[in-house]
Amino acid sequence: MKKKDFGDDFQWGTTISAFQNEGCSDADGKGSSIWDTFTSDPNNINNNDVIGETSSFYTLYEQDIATAKSLGLNVFRFSISWPRIIPDGTGAVNLDGLEFYHKVIDICLNYGLTPYITLYHWDLPQAIENKGGWTNRNIIEWFGRYVKICINEFKYKVSNWIVMNEPMTFVGLGHFMGYHAPERKGVATFLKAAHHVVLSIADGGRTIRKLQPDSNIGIALSCSYVKPLNKLPKHKRAAKRIEALLNRFFLEPLLGMGYPTDVMPVLNTIRTFFKRGDDEKMAFDFDFIGIQYYFRVVAKHSLTPPVLFANEVHPTQRKANLNAMNLDVYPKGLYPLLKFYNSYPQIKKIIITESGVCYPDFLVAGHVHDARRMKYHQKILKQVRKAQDKNIPVKGYFVWTLVDNFEWKEGFEPRFGLVHNDFETQKRTIKDSGLWFQQFLTSKQ
Ligand code: NOJ
Repeated sequence: MKKKDFGDDFQWGTTISAFQNEGCSDADGKGSSIWDTFTSDPNNINNNDVIGETSSFYTLYEQDIATAKSLGLNVFRFSISWPRIIPDGTGAVNLDGLEFYHKVIDICLNYGLTPYITLYHWDLPQAIENKGGWTNRNIIEWFGRYVKICINEFKYKVSNWIVMNEPMTFVGLGHFMGYHAPERKGVATFLKAAHHVVLSIADGGRTIRKLQPDSNIGIALSCSYVKPLNKLPKHKRAAKRIEALLNRFFLEPLLGMGYPTDVMPVLNTIRTFFKRGDDEKMAFDFDFIGIQYYFRVVAKHSLTPPVLFANEVHPTQRKANLNAMNLDVYPKGLYPLLKFYNSYPQIKKIIITESGVCYPDFLVAGHVHDARRMKYHQKILKQVRKAQDKNIPVKGYFVWTLVDNFEWKEGFEPRFGLVHNDFETQKRTIKDSGLWFQQFLTSKQ
């Protein structure tokens, strides 16, 4: 496998996010987000971890971007924090917030890294949550205004936009399970929030297109490789339903196909939250679809979840290759997923906007020998090549993540970085996986 086999136009990047990396959560006029609220109670976080400065990207951005460059990457994907730009979500704009992202963008451009900006990576302004957050339909307008402000401000420097990151994760974990911020629960809450998220994404896309017609607009969707427990039809049907939820629920309405009610007629209840014209408003013509792949799910029929009639056979209860979050790492799942996405004629281009793996890492005498992570990326990249050989238009691979950071509810234990971070001193050490990327991407081939 050689870098040039991926094509001259292939983009190599890493992804980080505002809340997980920046720290300085109330500096320079930033407002509070739902994740500031959630993490203010350490009982909410694994090991009672306190977020503190996380990996201090707010102050160390230049160093981190320089490191990304030194690894041979040509893309830097990061997110903008809505409450840094509009502290209360809907009111006055915070010029210092804009200024921070100008500095980050300028440094990227100085180092020759193309910025990809995610406009929403889960850190909703708390003031908006207080008004109902994603369950309040007015959020389409509030989000639209925020998008407009960002595009008008940065469009002379940035042309790659990802409207939102992993809607299924933040809506599912935060508005159905109550596991993530803002700890909302229940099917109705989930469906209502999900519908407003779909409309906000499509509307956001249209806003960007209008303000910057030549921009490159995408969405980043989580996906899983889903396999039935065995060949029994009931398990196969269960797998189809889980697949519909994990891989099709947000994608298909955005592609103009409506929600995947074929295998889950019960999803028709989401229409309770529709207003006239929503069927059309849900769709947007994206330039690319970002997919984010981490793990495999084994599905079985079950009567317990009343809506889904399906359950996951938990990876710890079967033969699985577990990462530090007990997820089943399965690089081979990427190729079938790429085939699946490519089967939608509306999808013109695919970018792997995130993939990565967490293992416990040990810093020994200035080195982190993370051979398993290195192999993970190598195996995944082989899947990308396999897809390209079948003419599937995969045009980029962005590693999650550059520097070890805050893994939401799971705290600091799961480390995904190509670069190790000592959270006490903020000292960075490039791991063996990062050194492999460096060698792979920069050596003359
Ligand atoms: C996807 C999310 O976008 C990111 O925030 C998270 O840290 C990684 N998955 C790893 O779980």
